[in-house]
Amino acid sequence: MKQWIDKIKEALTLDELERVRVSIFGKKGELAKAFAKMKDVSADEKPKIAKELNILKQKLQKIYEEKKAELEELKLQKSLKSEAIDVSLYSPRATDGALHPVMHTMDRIIEYFTDLNFAVETGPLVEDEFHNFEALNLPDYHPARDMQDTFYFEDKKLLRTHTSPVQIRTMMNQKPPIRMISPGAVFRRDFDLTHTPQFHQVEGLMVDKKGKVSFANLKWILEDFLHTMFGDVDIRFRPSFFPFTEPSAEVDISCIFCSGEGCRICSHTGWLEVLGCGMVDPNVFKAVGYEDISGYAFGLGVERFAMLIHKIPDLRSLFEGDLRLLEQFR
Ligand code: DAH
Repeated sequence: MKQWIDKIKEALTLDELERVRVSIFGKKGELAKAFAKMKDVSADEKPKIAKELNILKQKLQKIYEEKKAELEELKLQKSLKSEAIDVSLYSPRATDGALHPVMHTMDRIIEYFTDLNFAVETGPLVEDEFHNFEALNLPDYHPARDMQDTFYFEDKKLLRTHTSPVQIRTMMNQKPPIRMISPGAVFRRDFDLTHTPQFHQVEGLMVDKKGKVSFANLKWILEDFLHTMFGDVDIRFRPSFFPFTEPSAEVDISCIFCSGEGCRICSHTGWLEVLGCGMVDPNVFKAVGYEDISGYAFGLGVERFAMLIHKIPDLRSLFEGDLRLLEQFR
């Protein structure tokens, strides 16, 4: 009897205790054997011994239950300890992300125009020649196609060289009046100090019935826009040429590096070119099936705006992902 109690009490693990339980309480265990011996006991002693055996069994069971609870608690404590997470451990705070200066500039441009109720339209990056060139009054033989060094696919599809094709898509899908901008990536085979093969543009377009949209409207909105973006700068419209606008102009702001005095960045002219614009060419309206319509359009490079706003000298540094540069734009 003491033996059995010791065996239970000495068990170190739940597995060990289970083996002890089987050896005592199991079908072929010690208790079963003891009860079996009852058949050799005389009839008048039987009740007494049976009673003692049952008391013993209950006692053993109680000790067993206690031991089991004790070992289970031990096991729990052990696993709590081994799986514990030290919440007091120092963890460096993950740094917050921030918008890339190009995207931040893009957002500011979009905000200016959406505040004036311009809709934001998008188009595919992989374009066809019709939308990227032909409908924009750049037919096959037109020398102006050489102005754009294009990435072509084998099936004559191409990576759009400007966001102007979105003008065409929007006019073909909607009726005038239209007031839209189209921000997005564009691609050209170009790589040097001031050119990267991928960059971003924002195209603008306003069309309405003939006589409703004038060059004066265009001039007003671009002047207001450029003052919003660059602050107190001088602005000039310079006659220029684009196949998709007539008349066309390029717009300059007084150099923000030298305030118009003349420096290396403005090639000593005192002026920086920032966008192209004009009145939509009648051939473009013809291509999209518009009649008796007038409109203006403009296009600008977002990287150029970002570089001028933040005075970043090398365009390529915007694409290197160098955290030391990006950290400055939190
Ligand atoms: N698409 C021209 C470019 O990529 C930019 C441009 C100039 C767009 C004049 C216009 C515009 O809509 O009127 O260089």
